[in-house]
Amino acid sequence: MGNTLEILRRVAELRERIASWRGSNPDARIGLVPTMGCIHDGHLALIHAARAACDHVVVSLFVNPTQFGPSEDFSGYPRDEATDSRLIGQAGADVLFMPSVAEMYGDGPATTVSVSRVSEGLCGDHRPGHFDGVATIVAKLFGQVRPDAAWFGEKDYQQLLVIRRMTEDLDLSVQVESVPTIREPDGLAMSSRNAYLTDEERRLAPRLFAVLTDAAQAIADGCRADDCCRDAILALHKAGFPEIDYVEARDAATLEPITGTTTGPARVLAAVRLGKARLIDNLAVPQRG
Ligand code: PAF
Repeated sequence: MGNTLEILRRVAELRERIASWRGSNPDARIGLVPTMGCIHDGHLALIHAARAACDHVVVSLFVNPTQFGPSEDFSGYPRDEATDSRLIGQAGADVLFMPSVAEMYGDGPATTVSVSRVSEGLCGDHRPGHFDGVATIVAKLFGQVRPDAAWFGEKDYQQLLVIRRMTEDLDLSVQVESVPTIREPDGLAMSSRNAYLTDEERRLAPRLFAVLTDAAQAIADGCRADDCCRDAILALHKAGFPEIDYVEARDAATLEPITGTTTGPARVLAAVRLGKARLIDNLAVPQRG
């Protein structure tokens, strides 16, 4: 059984709702789950985590044009407001905030939030401007909702660290929480973009998780990270992935590259292109002892 979901499309209405919650209980905890819709179990895990920790939960659904490159899938990004609002309501959100592009950006903002270092390399190299778009929209949502905490998935690991860093650097007083990647039974990380896969591509897609699992284990066993990542790229090509953007090992906290052996917290991250889809995934390197 879910709550009664209130759908708001204007920033002014959202602010009024938040003010009424804070007015009736100044200690109430307000949680935010930003999404671009096409809701799947990964999003539901974020909403459930927010629901368990907060008195009020706002989910935003906004397909943010500024985080898509000119040749990316903004116009074709899957949109289904009716199904999404049903699922978001059933998961226990109180408010679904669904602004238009004009409501969010007016006649075009002059301000962009840009987070250096953690947004460089990996997806930052392959999607120029993407993390500026993400950081800017998340900063705006934080300003509009003023949540106590906000939830993001570990599947978008670089995004998570970009948002953490921005929140810290700008003293935004929002607790940034994360939830582990939710996977299909065959290991494929849940993603809205999995909808683009043909049947044949869908059968191949979970090999990404299998190859990353082997790479993470090999690094944990003491192999050099650059060798393991090179082997992973070869294995992905051999499995039939036509285009691999990257497979890299990085420090789990700073995303500094790791090439040699490591015993510290590390992550193996990858992005591949498969038909119309660009799949990303990442895994923690198991810690010894
Ligand atoms: O992860 C996403 O869906 C988006 O990048 C986010 C965080 C909602 C910002 O548009």
